[in-house]
Amino acid sequence: MHFSSGLVASMAIILPILALPTSSTQSKLLPAADAVPGESSLFVNYAGKKTPLASKWMKAIAPSASGPAGPDDLLFQNLLSAEWIIYSFYQQAVETFSPCDFTKLGLPNSTYQRIAEIRDNEAGHVRIFQNQISDNSMKPGPCKYEYGFGHNASIFLALQVYIEVSSMAFLTGLSLLAEANISKSALMAIGQVETRHNTWSLIDVYNTSPFSGPSDTIYPYANQILDMTNAFIVPGSCPTENPVYPTPRQDLPRMAFLGNGTTGRPGSNIQFVFDPTGNQPKFVDGTDYYAVFYHGVNTVSVPYDPTKNSVQIPKPFDPDTGIVMVSIADQVDAPTEESVVAGPLIILEQPGILTLKEPSVA
Ligand SMILES: *[C@@H]1O[C@H](CO)[C@@H](O)[C@H](O)[C@H]1NC(C)=O
Ligand SMILES: *[C@@H]1O[C@H](CO)[C@@H](O)[C@H](O)[C@H]1NC(C)=O
Ligand SMILES: *[C@@H]1O[C@H](CO)[C@@H](O)[C@H](O)[C@H]1NC(C)=O
Ligand SMILES: *[C@@H]1O[C@H](CO)[C@@H](O)[C@H](O)[C@H]1NC(C)=O
Repeated sequence: MHFSSGLVASMAIILPILALPTSSTQSKLLPAADAVPGESSLFVNYAGKKTPLASKWMKAIAPSASGPAGPDDLLFQNLLSAEWIIYSFYQQAVETFSPCDFTKLGLPNSTYQRIAEIRDNEAGHVRIFQNQISDNSMKPGPCKYEYGFGHNASIFLALQVYIEVSSMAFLTGLSLLAEANISKSALMAIGQVETRHNTWSLIDVYNTSPFSGPSDTIYPYANQILDMTNAFIVPGSCPTENPVYPTPRQDLPRMAFLGNGTTGRPGSNIQFVFDPTGNQPKFVDGTDYYAVFYHGVNTVSVPYDPTKNSVQIPKPFDPDTGIVMVSIADQVDAPTEESVVAGPLIILEQPGILTLKEPSVA
């Protein structure tokens, strides 16, 4: 996930553009308050700049009943807060860009329409997750977000890859926490849609292989990935009723890597840095630390010397496929959430053109 001192510093001052219709035609396309995902084109191929979400859904919704929380309410509260970040990313893009911003880059004329369609899908996810939270629990509302793409369509498209691979990874991880069987299936079904969004980009935007090898990457602690996305939230901008995001929040030190002296590929050395604006790791003398790498269904631990911050990305991992994730732990293979002391970090392997340009390179 991204941070660079410039980007983080700018977050506090640049507020996202408000959701406003940009033409009289579009302002007549009022969102249907009762539109149901799976039964409405608003969540499929609506192309307007105005949000497909009715205003009654665009806020924190107080519990309408009292009683015990549903078994997966907490999970879906965390996921809904994450979804607001993802939906708003696309909504801001739909408002900011026009089809020509993408054709100017040599991309297909359909690019803007696809981004609007992804926005529609994400708005559908907002409604699905709101419905998954029982009436006994509050449904978190949207905050203000700053993603740092400004008016630059190339930066937006690069960030889009990170946002999609992050959501594929945290949805996979959240299925480990789901209580109800139907919740597990719902998470899998949503994750597959995020994968399609990523696949579209690999084919149409980056003109590269759409495949990521036999398995996408499993990272066991989904809330740690969600926590990384806090970097997009304008501090203090969330509805006061919202629960802490994510709950529970470890607020681990955020990691990036130096782009010089590495290819970012399996077998290459990589030097980590910690976000100077956030928490710093507290390394205890005499404790052994490990850089724990994840790729596909594999986990590989490499001894980590906190005075050097430099390790080799495991050579056996497939090159050029999907992502590699890494965190620093005080036990081999990070068997518990608490054993992780910093990270995680996503190293994007595909498309390779973004590996060293990634927003996380300090
Ligand atoms: C995209 O294609 C449509 C239909 O062919 C055309 O009307 C429109 O002007 C094109 N837009 C751009 C940005 O090239
Ligand atoms: C967008 O950002 C890229 C990467 O930083 C840069 O090379 C390009 O010139 C920018 N485009 C515009 C239109 O500013
Ligand atoms: C989930 O499905 C399995 C297999 O049908 C069943 O044994 C289990 O009780 C179900 N779990 C819940 C929480 O319903
Ligand atoms: C990479 O850049 C950092 C910070 O600018 C510098 O300290 C370090 O020596 C560089 N490493 C290599 C291998 O060039």
